[in-house]
Amino acid sequence: MELQNVVVAGGGVLGTQIGLMCAYTGHKVTFWLRSESSIGRTTPKIERYSALMLRDLEAAKALITNPVGKMLYPRGMIKSWDGITEEKIDELLKTGGDNLKNNISIELDMAKAVADADIVIESMSEDPDAKIAVYEQMKDLLPEKTILVTNSSTMLPSRFAQHTGRPEKYLSLHFANTIWKNNTAEVMGHPGTDQAIYDKVVAFASDINMVPLQLHKEQPGYILNSMLVPFLSAAQELWAKEVADPETIDLTWKLATSAPAGPFQILDIVGLETAYNIHIMKPESKIEGSLENKICTLLKEKIDKGETGVNAGKGFYDYKK
Ligand SMILES: NC(=O)c1ccc[n+]([C@@H]2O[C@H](COP(=O)([O-])OP(=O)(O)OC[C@H]3O[C@@H](n4cnc5c(N)ncnc54)[C@H](O)[C@@H]3O)[C@@H](O)[C@H]2O)c1
Repeated sequence: MELQNVVVAGGGVLGTQIGLMCAYTGHKVTFWLRSESSIGRTTPKIERYSALMLRDLEAAKALITNPVGKMLYPRGMIKSWDGITEEKIDELLKTGGDNLKNNISIELDMAKAVADADIVIESMSEDPDAKIAVYEQMKDLLPEKTILVTNSSTMLPSRFAQHTGRPEKYLSLHFANTIWKNNTAEVMGHPGTDQAIYDKVVAFASDINMVPLQLHKEQPGYILNSMLVPFLSAAQELWAKEVADPETIDLTWKLATSAPAGPFQILDIVGLETAYNIHIMKPESKIEGSLENKICTLLKEKIDKGETGVNAGKGFYDYKK
């Protein structure tokens, strides 16, 4: 494992999951957070996601004899399903569980956090100004060796490269939600990324039990979101136009395609704030009476009520029941 010391900037939904995945696979992880109140929000997430990861690993034992078990097991938790046994899962529960407990620390002082970082994974809110401000603050603190990657879903690395002080060591490494099960890692450089650095990030992705998916050029939305965002937007348009309610839209999708989840269930997992941030960036969202404006208003109403998705216990669906 060449990149051993990992710093995750941002302890939200994805940042927490990424940090835990790195810790589980034996890396030393430091979450850099901006304030005491961030610690108060991230600590319960660390506990919750650790418990979910280990619960899914334990549950994988029941899949060993299941003929479709190899399609259902948590792929981030078990690197290879071939030859899997209960004993091997017990071993992973022990070593992985210990790693999750022992390999994580939280640091508010950025200089201390990044002092020996091999790789910094930026997973802050999808706010370009906030990302730029943090890159500018970080650039003089990072050791020469440090690779910097962004998990941004909607913005290209070339937009930020000049603010990092190390454009050749900067690229995108994009994860999907519930990464311990959905273990995709899209690797996307900008024209100034050094190929050797890109290759190191591909190897790192594999070291943390992800499947590296290599993009040969910049693509807004990468591979996954080039498909997922239009899909989720189409569902939200149907909702905003009052064509059908979210349950019916989800049911239609699931029945007709045998997909396990509908678009509003996916939105609950992604988090409504992320969906809102994506829509509010579109210029039409500022035009009163436009469909984009209506979607933003509807999402904002739910966010203001605290109905931000699975993490909050309620989104389009109620998870407290
Ligand atoms: N949610 C998803 O499904 C998903 C999937 C793939 C990638 N992403 C990307 O991951 C990133 C984070 O998304 P998320 O869903 O985890 O968001 P989130 O809202 O859950 O968390 C954002 C985190 O950023 C921190 N933050 C915000 N502004 C900051 C600042 N100025 N300084 C320091 N920290 C700051 C917040 O405190 C919070 O911990 C985004 O770039 C998003 O596009 C999200």
